Amino acid sequence: MVLSESTLETFDFRPGDSVALWSKNNCLTVGKVLQHFAISENDAIGGKTIIECLQKQYCLSHLTETFLGAIRTQLTENECEIFDHYGEQNAFKTASLLDIIELFPSIKFSVEELLPLLKKMKPRLYSIASAQSMYPQQLQLIVAEVAYENFRQRKRYGVASHYICNELALGETIECAIVHAKFKLPEDCSKNVIMVGPGTGVAPFRAFLQERAVLRRQGKNVGENWLFFGDQHRNGNSYYQKEFEQWQLDGNLSHLDLAFSRDQEHKIYVQDRMHEHGKELWSWLECGACFYVCGDATHMAVDVETTLKEIIRQYGQITPDTFLTQLKSENRYQRDVY
Ligand SMILES: Cc1cc2nc3c(=O)[nH]c(=O)nc-3n(C[C@H](O)[C@H](O)[C@H](O)COP(=O)(O)OP(=O)(O)OC[C@H]3O[C@@H](n4cnc5c(N)ncnc54)[C@H](O)[C@@H]3O)c2cc1C
Ligand SMILES: NC(=O)c1ccc[n+]([C@@H]2O[C@H](COP(=O)([O-])OP(=O)(O)OC[C@H]3O[C@@H](n4cnc5c(N)ncnc54)[C@H](OP(=O)(O)O)[C@@H]3O)[C@@H](O)[C@H]2O)c1
Repeated sequence: MVLSESTLETFDFRPGDSVALWSKNNCLTVGKVLQHFAISENDAIGGKTIIECLQKQYCLSHLTETFLGAIRTQLTENECEIFDHYGEQNAFKTASLLDIIELFPSIKFSVEELLPLLKKMKPRLYSIASAQSMYPQQLQLIVAEVAYENFRQRKRYGVASHYICNELALGETIECAIVHAKFKLPEDCSKNVIMVGPGTGVAPFRAFLQERAVLRRQGKNVGENWLFFGDQHRNGNSYYQKEFEQWQLDGNLSHLDLAFSRDQEHKIYVQDRMHEHGKELWSWLECGACFYVCGDATHMAVDVETTLKEIIRQYGQITPDTFLTQLKSENRYQRDVY
């Protein structure tokens, strides 16, 4: 994303910050909704055209319980049976408004009835993957498109990630706001930094590394950087490979450990690489390094913490919980997980 002149004056972000992006619903989807509910394109709500409203303000992909409750009251007995069957299977969790219109074509609402039943469109957060000190006019992101099959074996896409990856055209503007984070580089740049960021979790670490490369170029005493990165395949998922290799040559990245999970029969994850280098990792921590984790909260961040504790127990002769509490109190263990 290139920042416009007017935006530049107000945009000030630090490595570790995120950006909130407001996406739009697809025109075809909006058209189908208008057609089904016989809503006129000329209708206006709160000073906005109905098209603008349905494109930007309401979520057509994820439904509310209130909406589901309201449509059930309009269904025939047979349709209610089908509805309840899907309900019992939790299928509506992956249903969009279009799925419902297709499954139950008889449902009808006026625009005034429909809108309050829908979720409001919410912005999505993305970690900023570039440092303003290196790219003053740009804000770079790494966005993974969410895609899966729903209960009707229909391909479903994440609202914002699909919009950003497939629909946002070159030159088009997007509404956004910076979200300042507590996830930050140490104030003392001479400290060593260990970063664990598989998948999109690598984004803020690229910003960290760019910032530290700039500081190094300015002659500051910058500590060493160690990055653990992983994804499914080396081919196709090696984001920023050239940049990382250049930093290895420049000395900005003293350690780069990669874990491509599906390039061999058994899975290899970032925490396996941490184990392999447990002794050195402990010595970095013991000497004051900061430890950062970014990416998947459900599995990865939990497993990385377990591994970190195992390494502390094995090499540190200190209770892992005591050491982690100490790290946290010194702001030397930070996570940005989602
Ligand atoms: C601080 C922070 C930083 C982030 N940074 C990044 C980043 O740098 N890059 C990035 O790509 N993302 C990042 N994210 C995630 C991002 O904010 C969005 O959550 C993500 O892009 C999905 O949004 P979406 O609108 O595309 O999907 P949505 O339309 O919100 O759909 C996601 C929902 O779809 C459903 N779903 C997803 N997969 C399946 C499945 N297999 N089966 C059934 N249901 C499913 C789930 O209900 C899920 O909650 C970050 C999040 C946070 C909080
Ligand atoms: N809100 C959303 O819907 C949304 C949108 C985008 C991303 N996300 C979530 O954000 C997270 C990041 O997604 P992503 O695309 O960046 O990549 P990801 O799904 O986190 O995968 C990145 C790498 O991590 C590996 N991995 C899986 N489980 C792991 C574990 N327990 N420990 C360590 N590594 C593990 C994956 O391997 P394998 O896949 O081979 O197991 C893959 O090689 C995921 O949870 C993803 O579901 C959510």
